[in-house]
Amino acid sequence: MKRLLITGAAGGLGTALRSKLAPLAETLRLSDMTEITDLSENEESMACDLGDAAAVEALVKGCDGIVHFGGKSTEGPWSVINNANIQGVINLYEAARKNGKPRIVFASSNHATGFYPQDQVIDNTVYPRPDGFYGISKVFGEAVATAYHDKFGMETAIVRIGSCFPEPRNHRMLSTWMSYDDFAAMITRIFDVPKLGCPIIYGASANTATFWDNSNVAWLGWQPKDNGEDYRAKVDADTPKPAPDAPDVIWQGGMFCAEDIHEE
Ligand SMILES: NC(=O)c1ccc[n+]([C@@H]2O[C@H](COP(=O)([O-])OP(=O)(O)OC[C@H]3O[C@@H](n4cnc5c(N)ncnc54)[C@H](O)[C@@H]3O)[C@@H](O)[C@H]2O)c1
Repeated sequence: MKRLLITGAAGGLGTALRSKLAPLAETLRLSDMTEITDLSENEESMACDLGDAAAVEALVKGCDGIVHFGGKSTEGPWSVINNANIQGVINLYEAARKNGKPRIVFASSNHATGFYPQDQVIDNTVYPRPDGFYGISKVFGEAVATAYHDKFGMETAIVRIGSCFPEPRNHRMLSTWMSYDDFAAMITRIFDVPKLGCPIIYGASANTATFWDNSNVAWLGWQPKDNGEDYRAKVDADTPKPAPDAPDVIWQGGMFCAEDIHEE
């Protein structure tokens, strides 16, 4: 690609993955609410509020691929989620439709299916069961991605990201963790395959304790290498084991499923 856009580039995943994604394009266009200043030679910065349709159209112009990380990434007030994850996603897909239909990686979340129990293995055909405003907004984003594929032929991967951090931080993350290397390898496959379509992919490493089945997207050729199990002893030593009836033990979405994190 000549130019790959990364939205939300100042966030956790943007910061961790931008150098790993650099080989995919001659130029990385990095965008967030404010300008990013520590640019490498092949990077450019373009600040943009995703809720501003005109600004998003200018942002997308000239890009051959998009990794859409930008948005509210936790539970929060609806007004914030609405601007970033509802209006923002429509703005992004509309801008892409009008500007050459670049391939898009949509950062969805396990919270789109958070209310499946941890003792059930689910694949990418299950009906969404979001666990709050944030999860609802990700289901909306998945619907936008699907509709823009079906109606306009846009190729877009929906990644239900588990927990993408340097290492698992608690017992639930032994099942949901995805390493940065595995995610970068997945995104590379998404841009490399000749025909993508609109697959839903669970974003998790090769975790022994997984509750997600990615066999329907084996054709992508993505083979995660890391495994949360390697951190079990450390997690056992560092964090208290949750009670057997805690949301973090029962539900795939963990604490997001607790009533008391609902914010007005
Ligand atoms: N990290 C994970 O484990 C994980 C898990 C599931 C889903 N995701 C999704 O992946 C994406 C990236 O996650 P992250 O952990 O880097 O989150 P993050 O919160 O660290 O980064 C998100 C970035 O989006 C930007 N942003 C928020 N609202 C915006 C707006 N209106 N306009 C422009 N930019 C805006 C923020 O400034 C921030 O830098 C998010 O969409 C998140 O929902 C991440």
